[in-house]
Amino acid sequence: MKLRLCRVTEIPPEGAHAVEAGDEDLLLTRVDGVVRAFHNVCPHAGRRLDWSPGRFLVEEGRIVCAAHGATFDRADGRCVAGPARGARLAPVAVVVVDGEVFLESASGSGSR
Ligand code: FES
Repeated sequence: MKLRLCRVTEIPPEGAHAVEAGDEDLLLTRVDGVVRAFHNVCPHAGRRLDWSPGRFLVEEGRIVCAAHGATFDRADGRCVAGPARGARLAPVAVVVVDGEVFLESASGSGSR
């Protein structure tokens, strides 16, 4: 079973889109048509990356953590600058079906 997160078009081509998946706060990105999801938890000090729910700082196509400025690549979640340099956002498996983004369940296998 898959949990629906949002429509692909809700994810800005630059920046990120915040969603809740049960108890988890996630952020979704769309880079070159590929949707990716990460936990909305900064590896530096565990804070949310957005400065207000769903509002992300974006600089030169990268997401900047609102707390202390760690800067993340939107494609792979790698921190490229700031206090978390070298760390990564924790990825979350998602699948796109008919323009909708779904969370892959832990027991799910394979995607179409
Ligand atoms: S919590 Fe994100 S840079 Fe410190």
